[in-house]
Formats: sequence, C-alpha cells, structure tokens
Amino acid sequence: MAQGTQDMAACARENLQEKVLLTGGLGMLGSHVSRALVASGRRPVIYDAGTDTTLIADVASRCDIVQGSLDDLPRIMNAIKDHKPTAILHFAAQVGAAVDKFPWTALHANLVGTTAMFECARLMGVERVVFPSSKMVYGHVAQRHQHPRYEPVPEEHPLQPLILYAKLKRAAEDMAAHYAQMYGLDIVAFRFGSSFGPGKTGRSKAIPLMGLIESAIARQPFHMECGAEQFDDYCYSGEAANAAVAALDAPLQRGKFRAYNIASGELISLGQIVALLKELYPGWNGSAGPGLDYRKIGPGYYFKMDSGKAQQEIGFRPRFNFRSAVLDYAALLELQKVQGST
Ligand SMILES: NC(=O)c1ccc[n+]([C@@H]2O[C@H](COP(=O)([O-])OP(=O)(O)OC[C@H]3O[C@@H](n4cnc5c(N)ncnc54)[C@H](O)[C@@H]3O)[C@@H](O)[C@H]2O)c1
Repeated sequence: MAQGTQDMAACARENLQEKVLLTGGLGMLGSHVSRALVASGRRPVIYDAGTDTTLIADVASRCDIVQGSLDDLPRIMNAIKDHKPTAILHFAAQVGAAVDKFPWTALHANLVGTTAMFECARLMGVERVVFPSSKMVYGHVAQRHQHPRYEPVPEEHPLQPLILYAKLKRAAEDMAAHYAQMYGLDIVAFRFGSSFGPGKTGRSKAIPLMGLIESAIARQPFHMECGAEQFDDYCYSGEAANAAVAALDAPLQRGKFRAYNIASGELISLGQIVALLKELYPGWNGSAGPGLDYRKIGPGYYFKMDSGKAQQEIGFRPRFNFRSAVLDYAALLELQKVQGST
C-alpha cells in the first residue's frame, strides 16, 4: 500500500475505533504489537495476567487493558462482547526456563490457553486469529542450513521440535489447522527468528545477545567467551509487531491455517554484532571469543529463515536491519527510563 493510502486507512480505523484483542500485550513482543496497532490506527484491547505497564507506557492511554488469565474463558468472552474486536492477536504465553520447570503450567498456558483463544474466536464470531509460534519448531535444521552454508530454511522444512516449549508450539499449530478447517477461521502462526528487544533483560542470561546490546548501550563492559563466528538471522521485536499488523491488513482467508517464517533476512555473526556495537557506542569495552554456538543449544538452532512466503502472501516487508533495530531498542529503553522517572 502507498504511504498516503496507508495513512488514510490508519485514520479511518482510528475514527471507527477498530479494536483488536491482544493477549500478552504487556510483554516483550506484545508491547511492540500494542505500539504497532496504535500506529496503524487500531485500538488494542490488551488481555494480560500482568499489571506492569512499563513496556507500553508511551501508548497505554490509547489501549484498553483487561486483567485476566487465559484459563478464565468467561472473562475473555466478556472482553470480546464488550469491545467487539475484529481479530485476536494471541501473544500471552509462558516462555523461558519456566516452561521446563513448570510443564503443567506451560501446557495449560501455551497449548490449552491457545486452544481457548480459538474456542473464543469461533464462539464469539471473531474470524481472524494470529499467534506466535517459533523457529524452535524445526528442531535442529538439516546440515545444509547450518554453519557454514546457511541455506535459508523454508516453512516446508520438517518439524522436529526437541524441547517442551517447541513441542507445545507445534501442537498449537496442529490445533490451529484443525480449528481453521472445522470452523472456517483464518489463523496465522508466525515462526519468529531468534528474538530480541526491550523487556527481555531478565532473560539475558539464557539469551546473551540482550546482555551484549544493553551493556553496549549503557557503556558497561561485556565479554562473551565464544561465538564470534556464529551467524544467525534475528527477529527484532519491532519486526514481529510489523508482521502482526501485516497479517491484519491481509485479505481474510476463511478456513485456512498458515504458518510463516518471520526474521530480518540478514545473516549477521556475533563478531559483526560486537563490531557494530563498538561503532555505535564508541569507547564501549565488549568482546566475543572465537567459535560457534554461544548459547550452547547446538549448532542446528542458528540459521537463516526464508520469509519469502510471508512477503508474498501477507505483504510482510522487513523494516529493521540489525543496526536500525539496535537504535530503536536504545530509543525505547531511554523512553521507558524517562517515563519511569516521571
Ligand atoms: N521472545 C521470543 O524470543 C519469542 C520468540 C518466538 C516466539 N515468541 C512467542 O511470543 C509470545 C510472547 O513472548 P514474549 O517474549 O513477549 O513473552 P513475555 O513473557 O515477555 O510476555 C508474555 C505476556 O503474557 C502474559 N501471560 C503469560 N501467561 C499468561 C496467562 N496464563 N494468562 C494471561 N496472560 C499471561 C504475561 O503477563 C506477559 O505480559 C509467546 O507466545 C512466545 O512463545 C517469543
């Protein structure tokens, strides 16, 4: 869509107050989606078990917030009845180490909770549901996709999830296909590349990229033992939000479930990231030692994603490269600091 037409569409939506139910809208990816929805002229109705609005401080006044859990179906249905959203973006889930540690909780939040959203959609007449899956559903990708060849991974690559988090995502995709076919819903799942963005700081031990970026921004020393030669295809949280809005703008396809890879399409090594951070933040004392697999998760989890299908079918266009993502990340951290102190 041309920029002028896009602006007019955003304006028209704002006047009509088109609403979208967004679960998990206070979280790391969800907060970016909240911001992108507001920028597109829509009003997010955030449904979240949490109450901390720090990550959406800049747009909170342009969102409705309903506190509730995914297992509280009457409350979700009530939110749909009250706000009449045109679509559901389902971003609430258990993530990180908690999934392995509390499998029962993860099963209920991530698989039963996702199924609950499909149920609510069909019972309440909301035709479109979009939810995040993960690159982890591929498991360890075939050798030709790994270092040093990095042939892009298409959606047709076999799904062999190895960890519980990814197994639940895979099952949620299967459930989505069933609901789409059975009840005529339009359901889209996004297999996001290795994600990063503000709000993930607490998880930076498991995902050291965040520690690296935030240390550079704060000009604090950060040294990684290894990984300088490891390339990966990252997905900035702003890009995930960009994809979510593209899915809403795409024509409705009743009865179809589609899964799309979403990432920047830019392969970048940890060594190149350190160099870029040094250029952006002169004087910063950071380094990465030689080698691969700096997350110690196995070489098959680092690969380039082919997001051509999302580009063709829903008009997804990557907006961020690594450099612009870091600058956006830093600007948001600054904004949150300023708003937190006022
Ligand atoms: N961040 C990543 O690296 C990444 C990558 C791929 C996919 N995803 C997926 O994106 C989604 C969002 O991830 P995130 O990183 O923003 O997580 P997050 O933990 O930052 O945010 C999740 C939000 O969901 C809410 N929530 C959790 N359980 C809930 C429940 N039972 N009921 C109601 N609200 C609940 C939390 O309060 C939180 O605000 C998840 O589905 C995740 O699996 C994340």
